Amino acid sequence: MAVVSLRLLFLLSAILIPIQASALLPYLFPPTCNNNSGNYTSNSTYKTNLNQVLSSLYSNTTIDYGFYYSSYGQNPDKVYAIGLCRGDINPDDCRGCLKNSSTLLTQDCPNQKEAVGWCDQCMLRYSNSSIFGIMDTSFHVLVCDMQNVSANYLAQFNDDVNILLNNLKSEAAAGASLRKYAAGSAITTDFKKIYALVQCTPDLSEQNCVNCLLSAIATVPNYCAGKVGRIVVLTSCSIRYDDHSFFDSTTAPSSTNTTTSLWNPSNTLRTVIIVVVASVAFVVLIVSICICVYLRESSPREKAAESK
Ligand SMILES: *[C@@H]1O[C@H](CO)[C@@H](O)[C@H](O)[C@H]1NC(C)=O
Ligand SMILES: *[C@@H]1O[C@H](CO)[C@@H](O)[C@H](O)[C@H]1NC(C)=O
Ligand SMILES: *[C@@H]1O[C@H](CO)[C@@H](O)[C@H](O)[C@H]1NC(C)=O
Ligand SMILES: *[C@@H]1O[C@H](CO)[C@@H](O)[C@H](O)[C@H]1NC(C)=O
Ligand SMILES: *[C@@H]1O[C@H](CO)[C@@H](O)[C@H](O)[C@H]1NC(C)=O
Ligand SMILES: *[C@@H]1O[C@H](CO)[C@@H](O)[C@H](O)[C@H]1NC(C)=O
Ligand SMILES: *[C@@H]1O[C@H](CO)[C@@H](O)[C@H](O)[C@H]1NC(C)=O
Ligand SMILES: *[C@@H]1O[C@H](CO)[C@@H](O)[C@H](O)[C@H]1NC(C)=O
Repeated sequence: MAVVSLRLLFLLSAILIPIQASALLPYLFPPTCNNNSGNYTSNSTYKTNLNQVLSSLYSNTTIDYGFYYSSYGQNPDKVYAIGLCRGDINPDDCRGCLKNSSTLLTQDCPNQKEAVGWCDQCMLRYSNSSIFGIMDTSFHVLVCDMQNVSANYLAQFNDDVNILLNNLKSEAAAGASLRKYAAGSAITTDFKKIYALVQCTPDLSEQNCVNCLLSAIATVPNYCAGKVGRIVVLTSCSIRYDDHSFFDSTTAPSSTNTTTSLWNPSNTLRTVIIVVVASVAFVVLIVSICICVYLRESSPREKAAESK
């Protein structure tokens, strides 16, 4: 029970942070600072190694496929880091995003050895244990576009979305060890267009990428059902779809076109507020369940009655 409650609180805290975090505007989502993987102090070797490994990620100009990983130092102060850009981001923007994320993430998780953060165009993650090639389906963010799907087409819309996501899932998972990304669109039965994007960190095996994306696709809470868009972010993969385009379909590395912002701020606020309201209702529900269970367990009469 305690384990379940802690997990829920962990999930909820990940969702609840946005409302108090206007200072973190450059983030697409609030970062996750892992409080259970140990802390470092500002004058420690770990801190020096962390700075070193992060700068080696964003200053590595020999890589231009948007996935960076590195490690630095000696145990027990060795630091591992992964940087992954959205599949449609060019190398310069990618490195810029990773550089900004490095600053933000180390500010906002000032002493946690392990942290992960998402800006519009990239994800940055570091840890004191090896994270390369290891699938991690820890849940971080779920945001829904709260526009309703037209009721007449709801069942069909869900089928259309699932077909599109599953096709993209196979395509992304089959990608090389440098890139596991797929984006595309489809015309739904009611002649609307849906756009979707799926991505794994490319260090995953094909099967692990499939498994991670299946977890993400299966994450549909009730308050998202029947809505036109959804973003699910797990540590090792993410999915997103919506009824408007949000990625650069040309993906030409030399393109000077700025890519569409991943998420419209006013939409984010709207959805975050709805998510928060739903979360609070959920906490109230969980707390009442806990109280009920507690009362039941601490009442011998009830127990006696039950065992009859
Ligand atoms: C970690 O601890 C900080 C400070 O106590 C807190 O703000 C943050 O929400 C915690 N992170 C998680 C994932 O619980
Ligand atoms: C990471 O740090 C924590 C806390 O200091 C420690 O318990 C854990 O063993 C470390 N992990 C590795 C792989 O060294
Ligand atoms: C690490 O620091 C965070 C807050 O900064 C705290 O919540 C957490 O309990 C600390 N963890 C350990 C293992 O000391
Ligand atoms: C870091 O500074 C603290 C006091 O500010 C000190 O107690 C500690 O020994 C220092 N650690 C290292 C590794 O220098
Ligand atoms: C860039 O990354 C590649 C692959 O990880 C590595 O072989 C190379 O040494 C790195 N270059 C620099 C300058 O860090
Ligand atoms: C990085 O941050 C600077 C200053 O806040 C900003 O001007 C720049 O556009 C950011 N770059 C990226 C790629 O986010
Ligand atoms: C979406 O549908 C729900 C009930 O199905 C309704 O309460 C809500 O007002 C609708 N939202 C919009 C934006 O139409
Ligand atoms: C931006 O993209 C559109 C279509 O993809 C193209 O027609 C246009 O020429 C591009 N603009 C620049 C400045 O590259």
